[in-house]
Amino acid sequence: MVKVHFLLEDLLVEAPAGTSLQRIADAAGADITFGCRTGSCGTCRVRIAEGLAHCNEPGPEERDFLKSLDAPPDQRLACQVTVQGDLAIEYLGL
Ligand code: FES
Repeated sequence: MVKVHFLLEDLLVEAPAGTSLQRIADAAGADITFGCRTGSCGTCRVRIAEGLAHCNEPGPEERDFLKSLDAPPDQRLACQVTVQGDLAIEYLGL
């Protein structure tokens, strides 16, 4: 199991390793707005405050999208993240 800490609402939840961050956020009722759920709208943008190495690598489309926003490397699209270890995240939105 991995622990995900949603910092803005101070919500700490556990989930099996390999679960998508989107699924964890939905199940926990975390305050993250998902639009497209395919990595193309940016409404689910988060900052990985801790545990960036516990996330899957961004794919080319996510990388290009975040680059277009001039986002630093600790920012990801929550709908594209698979969680392999403990994380602390902060919701940013678009
Ligand atoms: S929900 Fe649209 S990019 Fe994640």
